[in-house]
Amino acid sequence: MSSFAEKMIRWQESYGRHHLPWQNIRDPYVIWVSEVMLQQTQVTTVIPYYLRFLQRFPDLNSLASASLDEVLAQWSGLGYYSRGRNLHRTAQLIVRDHQGIFPEKVEVICQLPGVGRSTAAAIAVFAYGARCAILDGNVKRILARCFGIERYPGERKIEALLWQKAQELLPEQGEKDVNGGIEAYTQALMDLGATVCTRIKPKCAICPLQSDCTAFRNDAVGRLPAPKPR
Ligand code: ADE
Ligand code: SF4
Repeated sequence: MSSFAEKMIRWQESYGRHHLPWQNIRDPYVIWVSEVMLQQTQVTTVIPYYLRFLQRFPDLNSLASASLDEVLAQWSGLGYYSRGRNLHRTAQLIVRDHQGIFPEKVEVICQLPGVGRSTAAAIAVFAYGARCAILDGNVKRILARCFGIERYPGERKIEALLWQKAQELLPEQGEKDVNGGIEAYTQALMDLGATVCTRIKPKCAICPLQSDCTAFRNDAVGRLPAPKPR
């Protein structure tokens, strides 16, 4: 019997994405830019914007010293412009308050404008290999189905329960491989949510979690996660 995390890491090795332009990079600035862009925008849309943005603003200082107009011009087309504004403001804040060094502690990253708990965790995982849980929309859906959670995941209590589950499911220190474990695991959740445990027509037949999945067992995949009550 292998753990949830082991199954995910094994699946990621064979079927996950390995060549996204922000993968295999440890620069927290670059990871931060990618995670903010990916908050509300799909991977295929983000890629050209990401490449262009980093060509123009290759590091924190170049972003901090640019004008807001130029940052927003680079953002143009990505939508949700407050993200671009926050990125610029945060770069200046890091230069002013953190000597231009991107913070390392997830509790500090979490306080940056435009960075929520899940984005902060993703940055800490991919930039520093920190053992932090993410809980974005994809992960909420996977966990709601896997654990057969019948209530709306946006409810405060349910969200707290999901955070707790997400934390408990993390690979043990040294599980699978000594480093790499938490990064591969986190990427696996993102990739499984994007390609297998999709909102519509999930591919349960090829899912590594099928034997653990309460929704699959109970034929409840179609109605989970529960919609917002009205
Ligand atoms: N969505 C959010 N963060 C992501 C990442 N690092 N890779 C792929 N999809 C993502
Ligand atoms: Fe999602 Fe289906 Fe896998 Fe369950 S078995 S986690 S519903 S894809």
